Amino acid sequence: MSQLEILKFPDPRLRQVAKPVARVDKSYWSTFEDMFETMYAAPGVGLAAVQVGIDERFTVIDVSDGREEPLVLINPQIISGTDACDLEEGCLSVPGHQESVRRFQSIRVQALDKDGKPLDFECDGLLAHCIQHEIDHLDGKLFVDYLSRLKRERIRKQLERELRRGR
Ligand code: NI
Repeated sequence: MSQLEILKFPDPRLRQVAKPVARVDKSYWSTFEDMFETMYAAPGVGLAAVQVGIDERFTVIDVSDGREEPLVLINPQIISGTDACDLEEGCLSVPGHQESVRRFQSIRVQALDKDGKPLDFECDGLLAHCIQHEIDHLDGKLFVDYLSRLKRERIRKQLERELRRGR
């Protein structure tokens, strides 16, 4: 396993709309492992393929305290969502910034698991929020897009400054 480099806002590669995975096979498994290792080390609760420079629709997630509920979602889709809730959000591509974002409280999700088997489940709270955040990544969207332009620009300038300083 090895840790991968996480792209940081405003890297233009984070704005691509990722391509669906055409066929799930074992060649993806080492990438999933590397992404889990990278996410746990960061530490974070979700990491989308586009954040490590892979232009395909999959994400790894683990919102458990003990890191014992790893979840791989391939070609994930939100089928329905109910009730809005605001949660503090951060993103490994926007380090050092947390802001409240309004998303569905409960969602129904369809995806493929790491073996290519179809998943169809409902979830709520932090996991639901996280899945919506990761699917946004696959559509080239970041949580800063939900903030005011002023706030987003302030964050962008700060991260660009840090990048220049080599952080
Ligand atoms: Ni993120």
